[in-house]
Amino acid sequence: MVDAANPFREGLTQERIPEPCTVVIFGASGDLTKRKLVPALYSLARDRMLSRCAIVGFARRPLENVFRQQMLEGVNEHARRRPVHPEMWESFSSRIHYHQGAFDQLEDYVSLKRTLEEVEKQNNIPPNRVFYLSTPPSSFGTIVRNLGAAGLVPKDGPHYARVIIEKPFGVDYESAQKLNRELYEVLDENQIYRIDHYLGKETVQNLLVFRFANAIFEPMWNNRYVDHVQITGAEALGVEGRGGYFEEAGILRDMVQNHLLQVLCLAAMEPPVAFDADSVRDEKLKVLRALRPMKTADVKNHVVRGQYTSGSVLAKRVPGYREEGGVDPQSNTETYVGLEIHIDNWRWSGVPFYLRSAKRMPKRVTEVAIHFKANPLSLFGSESVVQNILAVRIQPDEGISLNFGSKVPGPAAAVAPVSMEFRYASSFGAEPPEAYERLLLDCMLGDGTLFTRGDWVMESWKYVSAIHRGWEELGGEPATYEAGTWGPSESEAMLSRSGRAWRRP
Ligand code: BG6
Repeated sequence: MVDAANPFREGLTQERIPEPCTVVIFGASGDLTKRKLVPALYSLARDRMLSRCAIVGFARRPLENVFRQQMLEGVNEHARRRPVHPEMWESFSSRIHYHQGAFDQLEDYVSLKRTLEEVEKQNNIPPNRVFYLSTPPSSFGTIVRNLGAAGLVPKDGPHYARVIIEKPFGVDYESAQKLNRELYEVLDENQIYRIDHYLGKETVQNLLVFRFANAIFEPMWNNRYVDHVQITGAEALGVEGRGGYFEEAGILRDMVQNHLLQVLCLAAMEPPVAFDADSVRDEKLKVLRALRPMKTADVKNHVVRGQYTSGSVLAKRVPGYREEGGVDPQSNTETYVGLEIHIDNWRWSGVPFYLRSAKRMPKRVTEVAIHFKANPLSLFGSESVVQNILAVRIQPDEGISLNFGSKVPGPAAAVAPVSMEFRYASSFGAEPPEAYERLLLDCMLGDGTLFTRGDWVMESWKYVSAIHRGWEELGGEPATYEAGTWGPSESEAMLSRSGRAWRRP
């Protein structure tokens, strides 16, 4: 057990207080602002991890008179640091402002600049500015162009101007390339912070700490000892009123292109030369570059797409995907995808990485499971062979477990599988910061380690767009699976061909 003197706070406060700044949120009337962004900023302020920070909401609707109140509701409902502390809220909310404007009107950015100068003067904040684009992706290019035209995002100078971009970053290789081009017309790469909230999760970051702060795991982390790796991103939820969006996206774009490929990179990368943004991101990029490209024949054999039909999840009846609101009754959009991925490099040659992600699985679980090779000889009989599995549970019940064989008490040499467990909650006993807290703080500090670099995004789309092309060429419909089950039988068959099976976490 770690000393209870709040280890998380300590880790985060070590010289990690950013200079005073203003966060401008585009799309301030949207859900993310109220549920995640302002609650995250409040919790940071409450934990005294921010020096003065002002917030300016920017959106089309006239919300001047209600914005603070709406943010209070959001903080009361969603902040990690609840209930709201009245004095703290008073000082925090005195720096919340709203600026009504349209994304495509340059004059609204010119007036935004004036608002910012006033807010900064009032609060004695230097012109350090974070622009958070929490808007539909179709507006990213327009906003950045107008920010540039209004002189709000200079590349250098004594103060910073940084832009955080929400997902999705494009819908395929071409659109992501176009978006990157639009950004680079105005911004330098080091001003762009592409968010992937999975990288803000403590347990995702712990993949690196676990691998590179310990001496005993890394020597086994390769094709000499590892048989295969399984990465699971399963949700019990369905599309939750986002049928229209999901129809266009599908699970491959929604979860795999970003979150799960990031997790794969952290699990598979080489040790970086240093723990800084470019060293870490260089290594992650190398993993993507080593992925064996998916040709149409590979898509047929190594990719399974599925779609849920009605069923029962967590003891509740739920409709099938085609019956969800906003979904075409003949939709072929995938809500499940299972992939066999090969990383053609020295470390991983011959070790398949099986990756699956889906909606309407029996439960929510995100994990990376390293399946080790069997002994060269089974001394205790063939029934006693236990597969050693190291499972890093990203969520929920965050922790790490190691399965191994142990002698069953008694006169016989019988072996049974047992497990050694580490649980965050019991070892640290403190609630870790929310992903958005960490990411906002890192952006203010100019630390891009946990953000996606432009070249990574392009490489991941290259891989994923080839799968979409393969599906188009092959035609046909996704396999089906009943809501509340672990996916289509075709996915089980993909693993059983090599004598393997998906875990039931
Ligand atoms: C989002 C996806 O990026 O991640 C959602 O758009 C998904 O469809 C969500 O539900 C999962 O995030 P988390 O943090 O709940 O695992």
